[in-house]
Amino acid sequence: PPKEVFWNAREICQIDGFWFYADFKESMAAFRSDFQPRSDDVLVTSFPKTGTTWVMALCHNILHRDDRVEDDVLTRMNPHELIPTLEVFFLTDQVQKDLVLESSGGGRLLQTHLAYTCLPEAVKNSGRGSKIVHVTRNPKDTLVSMWHFYNKVFECPAGGTSPFPMEGAVESFCSGVLPWGPFYEHVVGYWEESKKRPDDVFFLKYEDLCRDPKEHVRKLASFLGKPFPPVGDDEEVEKVLWLSSLGRLKELEVNKNVVSKLTQIPNSSFFRKGTVGDWKNYLTPQMAERVDQLTQLKLHGTGLSLDDF
Ligand code: A3P
Repeated sequence: PPKEVFWNAREICQIDGFWFYADFKESMAAFRSDFQPRSDDVLVTSFPKTGTTWVMALCHNILHRDDRVEDDVLTRMNPHELIPTLEVFFLTDQVQKDLVLESSGGGRLLQTHLAYTCLPEAVKNSGRGSKIVHVTRNPKDTLVSMWHFYNKVFECPAGGTSPFPMEGAVESFCSGVLPWGPFYEHVVGYWEESKKRPDDVFFLKYEDLCRDPKEHVRKLASFLGKPFPPVGDDEEVEKVLWLSSLGRLKELEVNKNVVSKLTQIPNSSFFRKGTVGDWKNYLTPQMAERVDQLTQLKLHGTGLSLDDF
């Protein structure tokens, strides 16, 4: 495997067909065996760099939209600190505290990058009404976003080095040997589940959110049991979109020049450009063709399309 890209010489391991940093093993095992789902949980699931931060902010702001504005916790905490990735931080004090606390205002908002098959059995078998919100994104933008992210976080705090070669990133993405990968099996798992259980699993594409944010945020809110007033009365929808927007979150002090005590990476790493099609600025036609062919092959017969943007 092309270890130098995305893994940065860290030890890696494969669990149920998916790749992870070996240092997450203990936490991941504890999450998978000890996590107790509740009927009012909302679990945001995603492959990294597909829009997790945005969707967490949207879910938070939808679920808490009746709270007072002064209580907007996202002005004090990065979404990844407020809603930590469970398999990575399950054993930390913060997550343990959050998990036992009875949360107010409509249940717990949780997050994982695990593939559907890797989720705790208790979640898969719960049948207790807890909800999954899955976000995905076109593979080429996901790959390019990941390349930027790892270039940024692995430079910190040691200082700048030259970026990882894009060839290696493409190779890693296409071979499936990347953190939480392979991408395609990951997304198809949630896609299939959303078709089987549409009331429990909400499937969202980053590009659809970009194209028609109001429509998709309305659908998301209805899924979460917090529908907005009818179309035409858009004030609340617009407010949630603004509170969750890249432009706003990026400019908050907490998301500038702050290295998170929890994640140990700069909070700013989660906010970059947030556009559709940025891959055109980074992938050669040959690289794009290689990813497109793989996308066609892997999604063939699933009814899911991810490269029609
Ligand atoms: P780019 O690198 O293409 O800019 P994740 O949250 O899963 O880590 O994904 C990160 C990607 O989502 C980055 O994409 C980032 O800029 C974008 N993003 C983060 N917050 C966002 C927001 N509030 N609205 C839209 N896009 C956002």
